Parts: sequence; C-alpha cells; structure tokens
Amino acid sequence: MSDIREEIEKRRTFAIISHPDAGKTTLTEKFLLYSGTINTAGSVKGKATAKHAVSDWMDIEKQRGISVTSSALQFEYDGCVANLLDTPGHQDFSEDTYRTLMAADSAVMVIDGGKGVEPQTRKLFKVCAMRHIPIFTFINKMDRDALDTFDILDDIEKNLGVATCPVNWPIGSGKNFRGIYDRQLKDVLTYSETLKGTKEGVENRIPVSDRSALSAAIGEEATEKLMGEVELIDGAAESFDLEEVKAGMLTPVFFGSALQNFGVEIFMHEFLKMAPAPEARKSDMGLIDPYSSDFSAFVFKIQANTNKAHRDRIAFMRICSGKFRSDMNVKHVQSGRVARLSQPQQIIADDRKTLDEAYAGDIMGVIDPGIYAIGDTFCMPKDKYQYEGIPTFAPEHFARVRQVDTMKREKFVKGITQIAQEGAIQIFREIGTGMEEIICGVVGVLQFDVLKFRLENEYNVEIILEQLPYEHIRWVKEWNGDVKEIVGTSDMKRIEDLKGNPLLIFVNEWSVGMVLDRNKGLELAEFSR
Ligand code: G4P
Repeated sequence: MSDIREEIEKRRTFAIISHPDAGKTTLTEKFLLYSGTINTAGSVKGKATAKHAVSDWMDIEKQRGISVTSSALQFEYDGCVANLLDTPGHQDFSEDTYRTLMAADSAVMVIDGGKGVEPQTRKLFKVCAMRHIPIFTFINKMDRDALDTFDILDDIEKNLGVATCPVNWPIGSGKNFRGIYDRQLKDVLTYSETLKGTKEGVENRIPVSDRSALSAAIGEEATEKLMGEVELIDGAAESFDLEEVKAGMLTPVFFGSALQNFGVEIFMHEFLKMAPAPEARKSDMGLIDPYSSDFSAFVFKIQANTNKAHRDRIAFMRICSGKFRSDMNVKHVQSGRVARLSQPQQIIADDRKTLDEAYAGDIMGVIDPGIYAIGDTFCMPKDKYQYEGIPTFAPEHFARVRQVDTMKREKFVKGITQIAQEGAIQIFREIGTGMEEIICGVVGVLQFDVLKFRLENEYNVEIILEQLPYEHIRWVKEWNGDVKEIVGTSDMKRIEDLKGNPLLIFVNEWSVGMVLDRNKGLELAEFSR
C-alpha cells in the first residue's frame, strides 16, 4: 500500500500548450535530455527537418513526417516521474489536442518572447482554464529580441485572464541578453555568448547585493535597469500564492531560451516541485481517491490503424487511481465486460514498451477490441462508478462530403458514421437543401485528410471534400418556429446533427450577433456536448 502512495506522489502528468514555433519541441527535447532519457539533441522531431517524432505511429504520420495523434512520454527528473502528454500543434491540431488536456493535471505554456500570446495558445489555454488546472509559463527565445517584459505579462493577463507572477526576470534580450534574475534567491544567473548551448549549471550566479561583481558581469547599464525593474515588480507584481497557482488563477512565469539551454533547468526544477501529483477525480459516485489501491482509468483518445496488418485500434487511458498490473482483470464499465487489458503499453522516448505495472497519473495504450469509446471508464470488477465524460469541442472547419461512386452510399454512410463515433470528426446534415448532403466538422483541417485516407483505405470509398468557409457553430437553443424561417446572412448556414437538433454555422463571429439582432426570440448556445 505504502509503495503505491510513494509512486503516485511522484507522478506529474502534464501537457505543453503553445502556438506552433514557440519552441514546444525544443523544450520537450531539453526535458528529455536533462532527464537522461535521450543523449543527443535532435532526437525529437523538428517539423522543419521532418524527422519522425518519437510519437509518430500511423502510416499517414510517416508519410507526412508529423504526428497526427498525441501520445505520452515518461521521464524521471528530481525524484519525480513526469508523464508528458504530447499535444499536436502544427497543421495536425485536432480535437485530440483538446481531449489530451483532459488527461493532464497541469500544463506548461510556452510563449515566444518576441510574439506574446498567439491564437493557438489562447484556444488551448481556454480548455485548461475550464478545468482549473495549474499553468506554468515559460517565455522562450529570450536570446532573440523580445517584447518588453512588462508588456508580455500584461498581454498574458489581458488576453488570457490569468494573473501572472514572475519567478525570475530577464535581463535584456537578443544581443543584449545578459541572464535572468532569480527573485527568490535574489541573485543573477548570467548568460554568456560563449557558454550558450552548453548544458546549464556552468553559468555564474551573482547575488544582487554584490553590485560591483554584477556590474562587472552584465555591465553598469543593465545593472541599473535591472535594479529599477526589480523595485517595480517587487512593488507591483502579484505575490506568489501556491494555492492560487493550484487553482489555475495565477501562473508562475519563467524566462529563458530552450534552444540555448538557458533557464530550462530552473524551470524544470521549480515546475515539477509546484505541479500537483494526481488528485481525486469526479465520478458519478463522488470523488475517487487516487491513492486508493483500486485501479481505475478513463479513455481520452482512440487511435486507429497503428498497425495496418492488424487494423487494430489503440485506446489511450489515463490511470486515475491505484496500481495497474497487466495480469489483473478489470471492468470496462460501459460494456460491463470484465477481462485483462490487451497488450498494455507505454511510450518511453522512441520505444513502445510493454507495461507490467503502472500507477495513477500514468498513461497507457491498450488494444481496443472495438467496443471502447472516448470517455469510457475502467475500474475493478467490484466497482460500479463512471468518470465524467469528455466534452465534445466545437468544430472550427467544415466541409461538404460526397462519395464519388453514388452506388456506394451505404458503405460511405457506415464508414463516416463509424469514424464520427470514434470522435475523429463530427457529422451534420444540411437543412433545407432537399439533398442528403453530409457536412463534416473538425477542429483541425488535417482531420479532413485523415477522413479521406481512412474512407479510402478501410472502407474502399472515394470521397470529394469541398471545404466551406464557416468557422463558428452554435446550437439553436430557443426559436418559436421552423429553423428555415430564421433570417440569416449570406455568411450563415443551417445544419442539424444526426438526431435532428438544429445548429447554425457562421463565417465570422460578427454574423452571429447580426443573426441574433435580426431574429427576435432566437437564442443560440455555445457548442459543447
Ligand atoms: P514548436 O514545437 O513549438 O513548433 O517549435 P520548435 O521547438 O520546433 O521551434 C521552432 C523554431 O524555433 C526552431 O527553429 C527552433 O530551433 C527555434 N527555437 C526554439 N527555441 C528557441 C530559442 O530559445 N531561441 C531561438 N533563437 N530559437 C528557438 P527552426 O529553424 O524552425 O527549426 P530547426 O531547423 O531548428 O529545427
């Protein structure tokens, strides 16, 4: 029993959220490098080099050199067992990216110091904020010209609605980058052009009380400026409150350069110290204690066709309580089936490793016999509870889908419905066109390619996708009359889900307001299920 507690207390399960190019891959690589999981930089895919990511599995991923679906990496550092959930961020951004955040206990937000908060960061942040998980901010690329530090913090606060607390403070940026000031220890970690790129720990730490040593190291001007800024932040910045951090209301902010190995070690150390171990999770029978010896987990992602020869599907689950052993029987609550899980596995660096045991906080993949669905619960045979489901996120891209060979209608409908049930896409019907047109909605455009690829390969159905300009979707919540009578704009389309519930899709946010203005009594609701 006590070894279970000890193991679980060490777990830190987190995701990195960022906009493409902010440095997520580089930072991940440094985490793996510092923890000794990989030996050389360059092992983790950079999108430019199109090397395969350690998590690349699917055929389509290999063809493109990108990672379509997310998985998890485990590494040990500072006595912690870190489970880093991979959230695809380039054109492979998808609903899976959001779902993965449902399995994380905290998040690292990487921001490019030269750019500030960018759109994808904002979207991912919103999902984290919905769950009130702690978010730790790393302002990256300080070795390049960055925005004014106060402006960056202001941007985070205004744009994301979260208070910030700088844990350290940068001294200049770009050519004038001299290091960071550690607010807790009140000393300066100096950055040197000559040592850049070497493993950290070799730079000097100079206490700010030693003004002459500091001036000699970073220059008189930078010292003056730093002292002024320190006075300002000590007076104006939010004071550090771990409880607020844990509630996701305050984000500790760190500065550095992932590429040059600067500020990463301090960040890793502090972040893993503050990030929470697994906490109790809500089920329909109340909170489930992670430290209970009874195993439980929920499925947050299903990945199809990892092995073309077997056409298998892998269900990824997050363990929420207790200890898993590969020889134990567990219950799949939704089907009532009690059995051993098939081929439990874990991904460590570039290996898929068979898993004999795992603990709350860990992520594992198992072969899906075709009955698992996203959000399903696994627990001990005696237990009867279910974890809360995973929300469906609003699609942001839409396309009209037609099969090339109209004789294959049945196969087409079966295929597209099955893929929709897996959660890879969402399907709707057009209202009022008199035609049985299927509209497909996705979070990331690459899912259209995945749909086409899978229909062709698995169902032998060729399709034509006509991408539509809509980006916003709302439920029709309240409307007295026929949906066809809603006075629209040229930027609006009426659709329904497969149960016949009406929705409206819009090209821009502005048309949403316009349509509301034009139709008295119309109420629209945000999309979530
Ligand atoms: P992402 O996963 O968030 O998309 O970003 P990634 O780490 O791939 O970084 C994007 C680009 O930014 C890469 O350059 C990377 O080397 C660079 N970069 C990351 N961190 C830093 C940093 O701290 N300082 C500087 N100056 N650059 C940084 P690239 O040329 O696009 O790719 P590559 O050929 O170097 O892989």
